[in-house]
Amino acid sequence: MTDSVPHHPQHFAIAIDGPAASGKSTIARELAKRLGLIMVNSGAMYRAVTWQALKSGVDPHDPHAVIAMLDRLEIACGDDGVTSTIAINGTDPGDELRSPQVNAHVSAIAAIPEVRARLVALQRDYLNRTDVVMEGRDIGSVVFPDTPYKIYVDAAEHVRAARRVDMGEVDSVAKRDAADSRRATAPLMVAEGATVLDNSDHTVESALEATLAILKRQGLPV
Ligand code: DC
Repeated sequence: MTDSVPHHPQHFAIAIDGPAASGKSTIARELAKRLGLIMVNSGAMYRAVTWQALKSGVDPHDPHAVIAMLDRLEIACGDDGVTSTIAINGTDPGDELRSPQVNAHVSAIAAIPEVRARLVALQRDYLNRTDVVMEGRDIGSVVFPDTPYKIYVDAAEHVRAARRVDMGEVDSVAKRDAADSRRATAPLMVAEGATVLDNSDHTVESALEATLAILKRQGLPV
């Protein structure tokens, strides 16, 4: 996939990757706000396909069935001027993207190479329109391997599990991370050139300052 990475002379991406509940979404959101960029939540795209599969009675663990569903799916990705938006066959799944059922099955859907190919194309398409802070698992390694701006946000497992509980979510973070890290296609990893930020003990403000310092070292004029 890396060989066919399109070149975008007009726009740039800041890649924020990391495991579940590491705080990468908060960092990406605050960073986008500070720099006036669009924040793109790539996990929402995998969640939206999972939501549709569950709604249609398609087994997330049956790749053939998922791919057949995908072929008929209209996926519209955009933004509201601040963050990314998504509609599946014209419907925004909203809060249902974070349901326990979606949490439980999204890693299986995200392991299917055909699903990834379709969503990676939509992720890259953002750079035809705008500059982005994009968060996910493979943004620095696969989606935008050529960007110089790459951060891998990590946090201790007990801190991440506690964050999900604080959010009131039923989510087996460790199980999801294991599946996301072991899959054959685009596993969760520290991308080449990425700087690791340990977010176990940061406040939102100090994490943002640490992120800006890393990006400055990576050459972003901030
Ligand atoms: O960021 P999140 O927890 O909302 O992501 C949900 C799932 O989507 C995650 O467990 C793995 C998958 N995902 C992925 O495989 N690649 C991405 N770039 C983003 C998310």
